[in-house]
Amino acid sequence: MATDDRLGYWDTFYGRSSLPLPSLPSQFAAFALGEMFVLSVEDKIDGVIEFGCGNGRDSHFFSAYGFDLLALDASAEAIELCRSLSRHPQARFEQCRATQAREQIEGFLIGKQRVAVYARFFLHAIREEEQNDFLTLLGALLPAGCLLFLEYRTVADAEQEKVFGDGHYRRYLDHRATLAGIEASGFSVLYEIEGHGLAKYRDEDAKVGRCVAMKQTAR
Ligand SMILES: C[S@@+](CC[C@H](N)C(=O)[O-])C[C@H]1O[C@@H](n2cnc3c(N)ncnc32)[C@H](O)[C@@H]1O
Repeated sequence: MATDDRLGYWDTFYGRSSLPLPSLPSQFAAFALGEMFVLSVEDKIDGVIEFGCGNGRDSHFFSAYGFDLLALDASAEAIELCRSLSRHPQARFEQCRATQAREQIEGFLIGKQRVAVYARFFLHAIREEEQNDFLTLLGALLPAGCLLFLEYRTVADAEQEKVFGDGHYRRYLDHRATLAGIEASGFSVLYEIEGHGLAKYRDEDAKVGRCVAMKQTAR
């Protein structure tokens, strides 16, 4: 599928109001929020940037807990849906491709010490070159100490049946290679796991990789 076809796919997906999209926050969002709240006062997060926010199920959850939020998605329909559902003044939704988000990231970082970057089921929805550019951009822009929360489908998930069928573009990731790519972009992995039971939806129990990483000071 060509890049623009993929984005057209997501516009159709989020523009179909009859589709029963999950509205509860994901298990990964609950986990990430828990991790953000156990940080000590001096390490605390003062904002969340979400990439590939979809219908905003996790963005609304983070902003409901008081976080300043910037949520980005390349699909105009997804962003329109998020804005129509948003109830929190500190949440901002913008249509933007992840690799072109330099200005948005820099603007959001003004006056902030430490942010969390969150992307669920996003890395496997973009091509490998785009993933590399995305991680390089984060490595270049985020100050030391910022946290990165990522969850993605891994190779063993390829054969499993999907609730949302085969229309989605899915690039099943090698968990170890993905962690190596994250570290090569200037982050150290603090926590990682690959398995089932982490991203259940109706009768689907995807095999996923999860990672929490911290931006290191430049060497
Ligand atoms: C599988 S959905 C995940 C949505 C949401 N994070 C969730 O977990 O329910 C992938 C999302 O990534 C978005 N997306 C795909 N390519 C993108 C890109 N290059 N930049 C930003 N968003 C993109 C799609 O529009 C879609 O909303």
